[in-house]
Amino acid sequence: MDEKLELYEDIYKKKFSFGKNWQFFLKKLDNKKIELAKKSLTDFTKLKNFKDKTFIDIGCGSGLFSLCACLLNAEKVISIDVDENSVSCAKYLRNKFKINPEIWEIKTGSALDSDFLKNQGEFDIVYSWGVLHHTGYMWKALENVIPLIAKDGSLYLAIYNEFKGFPNSKTWAKIKKFYSNHGKIIRKIIEMGYISYYILGLLAHGKNPIKYIKNYGQKGARGMSFYRDAVDWLGGYPYEFASTKEIIDFYGGKNFKLITLKKAKREGCNQYLFQKND
Ligand SMILES: C[S@@+](CC[C@H](N)C(=O)[O-])C[C@H]1O[C@@H](n2cnc3c(N)ncnc32)[C@H](O)[C@@H]1O
Repeated sequence: MDEKLELYEDIYKKKFSFGKNWQFFLKKLDNKKIELAKKSLTDFTKLKNFKDKTFIDIGCGSGLFSLCACLLNAEKVISIDVDENSVSCAKYLRNKFKINPEIWEIKTGSALDSDFLKNQGEFDIVYSWGVLHHTGYMWKALENVIPLIAKDGSLYLAIYNEFKGFPNSKTWAKIKKFYSNHGKIIRKIIEMGYISYYILGLLAHGKNPIKYIKNYGQKGARGMSFYRDAVDWLGGYPYEFASTKEIIDFYGGKNFKLITLKKAKREGCNQYLFQKND
């Protein structure tokens, strides 16, 4: 039984660990956030629940969305992440919510390992939110998830938008690389700089920053928290991005139909729901 969140410090001492960030997030996870996360899944897929559906979560992070798939009555859920700390988070949630491990399987593995993915089988819903652009080989990862999608199955994907305004995506790549390659103190300074920049942006748009941060994760969001998302954004390196056209052309050329598209305003994630045509 996984009764506590284990920190895999040795492996991730130098490297940014998404999973470690998720561990802090889970400490403040409440029912309201879970309901918002569930709603994000049902709204985007236009399904009331996941009854009789199989669901695979590639790059499960905190495990929150895999948990939601279970709570939405999915028949089978598989969570995969390359980061042991994320795997530990998902196991913690499975244990906390007493979900049967035969229904919710949690595995360490990579979206770049095509043989490993092929061995998982085929799924009605393949979910990979904010993951494949962090693998270092985004286009290979985008290709690798295809065999996981069952006939008439869906792919729910979120990929960073190519932003050409200021600061553009290439500049963000440099900032993220710098953040990821430095230790705690420098990271904290960058975090403070980023948060100040964000707050100035809010003020410039006439928004109340306190209200915005308090309500973060509610409006159109997925139950996430402002600070954890900020750290996730800065530390998320490798970092790649693509225009909606590039992604739609890529899957269109592989016999997928775009069902839903939610465009990012700036450098955030574009969200796509593709259906396999057969
Ligand atoms: C930004 S988080 C997103 C987590 C989750 N999908 C969500 O929506 O909250 C990215 C996750 O992708 C994972 N990841 C990065 N590279 C990966 C790879 N090659 N294979 C599987 N997971 C990977 C990270 O460890 C991290 O947990």
